[in-house]
Amino acid sequence: MSFYRLESTINLIEGYSRQFIVDGEDMLLVHSGGLTRLISTACPHDGYPLKKAKLANGCIQCPKHRICFSLDNGRALGGEAVADVAGLNRYDLAEVDGETGIYI
Ligand code: FES
Repeated sequence: MSFYRLESTINLIEGYSRQFIVDGEDMLLVHSGGLTRLISTACPHDGYPLKKAKLANGCIQCPKHRICFSLDNGRALGGEAVADVAGLNRYDLAEVDGETGIYI
């Protein structure tokens, strides 16, 4: 496995969102509420692209049906109304010499 650099960690500020294609997979690197996550670009609800989703308070809100997902645990927020919605598809991140990336 080798380290694939995505972004300098110092650049990961509130509201950061950038799309990457890594190993043929469409991924979104996001940062909010002190949390950095690498997630699938497709919303787990209905596949809508999350690249223009709002980020705030450690959550990402899909533009299509406005469901918010926690960056902490990946779950949809909203109680019973979203109980059947799958969580965010997340990838493991790593940090090497001040660079955030993924091992592939
Ligand atoms: S497709 Fe994202 S909330 Fe429905």
